Amino acid sequence: MSVIGFIGTGHIANPLARFLAAKGHHIVVTERSTSVSAALKADIGATVTDPQTVLDTSEIVFLCLRPHQAAEILKTLSFRADHRIVSVMAAVPEAQLKSLCAPATTFVQTIPLGYLQQGGCPMAAYGDDRLLAGLMEPENPVIKTSTEAALNAHFAVCAMVPGILDLLATGADWLGQQTGDEAAAEFYTTQLIAGFLSTMDKGRAGRLAAERDALATEGTLSLQMTQTLQQGGAHDALRDALTAIGKRLET
Ligand SMILES: NC(=O)c1ccc[n+]([C@@H]2O[C@H](COP(=O)([O-])OP(=O)(O)OC[C@H]3O[C@@H](n4cnc5c(N)ncnc54)[C@H](OP(=O)(O)O)[C@@H]3O)[C@@H](O)[C@H]2O)c1
Repeated sequence: MSVIGFIGTGHIANPLARFLAAKGHHIVVTERSTSVSAALKADIGATVTDPQTVLDTSEIVFLCLRPHQAAEILKTLSFRADHRIVSVMAAVPEAQLKSLCAPATTFVQTIPLGYLQQGGCPMAAYGDDRLLAGLMEPENPVIKTSTEAALNAHFAVCAMVPGILDLLATGADWLGQQTGDEAAAEFYTTQLIAGFLSTMDKGRAGRLAAERDALATEGTLSLQMTQTLQQGGAHDALRDALTAIGKRLET
């Protein structure tokens, strides 16, 4: 078991710290955000201290700052050559990380979502994917990417989550207006999709299209839905959004 430090103790650090503590690691966190760090101290026995002491007492360091804050905060800190570093920060490229965290040389960049605490969150990884797998698997599968551009493409797809939630909210709202029962409409919509996806074989390319085609056969309501969305430009809008987000993350 390792001593794992967190620089930045906000929304994503919270579930990561709880998951890693449950695996038996000792957690050391920076004090801001104080409500999160106080809860981690109370709930998982985390040590709360200043950023340099986090580094000095940790073997593995998670960087969980907002991208625009990262350079200003990290450049004031002294890293060690033997630090192993996990960055969850979108838009802080490898070259900048290496420069800010020198003389450390072991890095992995990844994209967690908060539900990792319960497991089942795929974690795209660029860099030392074995470091990440040793911490997060088997509960959260690590997906190695061979280039930083490929990692950034995963970041773009990760942004589909709120995009899809937004579409589901529209569907649930529409259903609630028809039935007058908003809560049941939201439950039905959410459970419908969650249940469907939970039973799908996720390890094979082409499975999504095969499941779609099995539903959207000639003359069905399903085909009417897929064709209307295609013709209305929903897929073009999705591809445009993915491309634009990918470009934004280019170094
Ligand atoms: N949220 C997600 O689901 C998610 C998912 C994947 C990746 N990420 C990435 O994770 C990173 C953090 O996102 P987040 O949502 O967790 O943001 P957040 O909640 O704002 O966390 C950032 C943390 O940094 C702290 N901080 C600010 N200045 C500091 C300083 N000088 N010294 C020490 N700590 C300081 C903030 O404290 P204060 O609150 O006191 O300002 C806050 O606790 C981002 O780069 C984001 O791209 C987030």
